[in-house]
Amino acid sequence: MPMTDALDLDEIVTRVHADMAAHLGRGKVADYIPALGRIDPRQFGIAVAACDGRMAVAGDATTLFSIQSISKVFTLALALEKVGAALWKRVGREPSGSRFNSIVQLEHENGVPRNPLINAGALVITDTLLDGDPGQTIEQIAGFLRRLADDASVSIDEEVATSEADTGYRNASLANFLRANDNLRGAVADVLAVYFHQCALRMNCRQLARAGLFLANHGVDPLTGGRVTTADRARHINALMMTCGHYDASGDFAFRVGLPGKSGVGGGILAIAPGRAAIAVWSPGLNPAGNSEVGVLALERLVSLTGWSIF
Ligand code: DON
Repeated sequence: MPMTDALDLDEIVTRVHADMAAHLGRGKVADYIPALGRIDPRQFGIAVAACDGRMAVAGDATTLFSIQSISKVFTLALALEKVGAALWKRVGREPSGSRFNSIVQLEHENGVPRNPLINAGALVITDTLLDGDPGQTIEQIAGFLRRLADDASVSIDEEVATSEADTGYRNASLANFLRANDNLRGAVADVLAVYFHQCALRMNCRQLARAGLFLANHGVDPLTGGRVTTADRARHINALMMTCGHYDASGDFAFRVGLPGKSGVGGGILAIAPGRAAIAVWSPGLNPAGNSEVGVLALERLVSLTGWSIF
């Protein structure tokens, strides 16, 4: 398998970008809120942040997009730091095999979400981070992303956050059901407010790849040397990304790409090549499972050029 050092990352991302030209515009842009529905689907960006400090980008790598469910990876990291293994009493670690916002599954399993990366699980994770004022928790999450991305400009798109709240009836149902099963401690409205704001974080591929780098390096940011989480927790987060990060298409993502990855309905995907790099791709058109169609294709191409699949 080729090692990171031997690869010309600039050449590889340029190749991936060129190869995606024939596919641009594929898939369907999320249209449940206007701010996502009006985005031009023909955009594509890629950034590879390597553990040795190199950063290779191509296409629309500096265009900001809504990270949506990719935020679940970062709130999970924060929650594990805060409550440790006690988290696993409130949320499972198994792939769901269901839609990301399934209500039926939560009822069937007595209010214990299958994993932290589906909506119900992410609501429980968000609940663990609440300490009273939801505004403070929102700021804590945004601050965490700013620190990890090494970029103070990372911010929340308030239009998206408001629209998420205006249309978030399913998430409200999940939160109420969790509360009815004693699996939310905070007020439903507070948990939802934080969740809608974390989904509305706006980042670009370059910032997102940089922010994910600690997951490629046993929990330590390789560029600052700062420990973000323990090696065990980084390993656990990667395992959950691999098995649950693309919802009921997680098996297909493992088959085609073979890297821990997390998608969002904004069209972004964060993928981790352990020991090597964090990769962010973005293209807004989604496949029927809600994952970026061209984003998955691009990662498939990237692993075929780099040999980075863990399998
Ligand atoms: O919570 C929701 O349903 C939306 N904000 C979408 C979250 C999301 O990205 C699901 N993923 N693919």
